Amino acid sequence: MFYDLARRFMFTKDAEWAHDFALSNLSRYANTPLSMAWSQSVPDKPVNFLGLEFKNPVGLAAGLDKNAECIEAFAQMGFGFIEVGTVTPRPQQGNDKPRIFRLPEQHAVINRMGFNNKGVDNLVANVKAANYDGILGINIGKNKDTPNEQGKDDYIHCMRKVFEHASYITVNISSPNTPGLRDLQYGEALDDLLSSLKNEQLDLAAKHHKQVPMLVKVAPDLDSVQVEQVTQSLLNNHIDGVIATNTTLERSAVAGLQYADEAGGLSGRPVRAKSLEVIKEIKRLSQGRLPIIGVGGIDSAEAAKEKLDGGADLLQVYTGFIYEGPALVKRIVRAL
Ligand SMILES: Cc1cc2nc3c(=O)[nH]c(=O)nc-3n(C[C@H](O)[C@H](O)[C@H](O)COP(=O)(O)O)c2cc1C
Repeated sequence: MFYDLARRFMFTKDAEWAHDFALSNLSRYANTPLSMAWSQSVPDKPVNFLGLEFKNPVGLAAGLDKNAECIEAFAQMGFGFIEVGTVTPRPQQGNDKPRIFRLPEQHAVINRMGFNNKGVDNLVANVKAANYDGILGINIGKNKDTPNEQGKDDYIHCMRKVFEHASYITVNISSPNTPGLRDLQYGEALDDLLSSLKNEQLDLAAKHHKQVPMLVKVAPDLDSVQVEQVTQSLLNNHIDGVIATNTTLERSAVAGLQYADEAGGLSGRPVRAKSLEVIKEIKRLSQGRLPIIGVGGIDSAEAAKEKLDGGADLLQVYTGFIYEGPALVKRIVRAL
């Protein structure tokens, strides 16, 4: 009810203005009686995954709370886990505005944000200040002006900074909005990156006496040969799990709609089938040895079940949450 009104208001505004307005209010009022507007109790459906205990399998996907400013508010909505970021070593502005577009006919969004964020030190300070004891994923990336050949250093820098504070770490190599980033998903570049990050993860685990699983987030636009190569590389390098998928560059499902030709990644309903295919392929190729977080176009209990049936162990939502609000989390968890 509250979200219906809020959404009606926010959908009359520019998409990024609405996003910033929502986040600033969630952050400001999380510890006040106004938080009643979004707080809800969601039934416990515990899931054991990667040695961690999740309250329920529905998480918030990366990119909504890039700077970890609203962890408490999202916890009050009943998410089983929260992923913050993508964060980069240094703060950066991201691409020129406008850079988010709604395509309501398809319950979709196109974004080309470009990792706008306030940098890893700011994120860590926010995480430390948050009163939250649930599962927190921290999603890391590289700065736009860091050449791909040195991209590894950016991921390692972020990994060192967030290690102590994360339940798990996501290595994002699949955003379409940082030029060249997706090239890190292929061949030698991928093997080189993953083996270095694995070594760093092991060193940090010994140093901090703490295991922090590392997941890699992949694109939905990989062809079957590429999915096979990525899966093999993840297994060879003993990566703990995979998040499938990020946004798509494909536009066939939205052709002819307003904003369909805007550059960026398309999310929501049009990516649902593509991300499901990638999940099924990874499940089949890895023979179930690679834990999977499924994300892409989940906007109903049915879409959530489809991802679990396809091989996902846990789920995340972003665009469906924009269209449906916090009730989506409860609806899915109840139906599972
Ligand atoms: C506006 C916007 C910003 C996003 N930013 C990030 C990001 O910073 N890092 C990331 O890994 N994924 C990011 N994503 C991708 C989502 O986490 C998710 O993988 C993708 O949108 C598919 O899920 P959905 O259909 O539920 O939105 C972003 C998505 C949107 C719509």
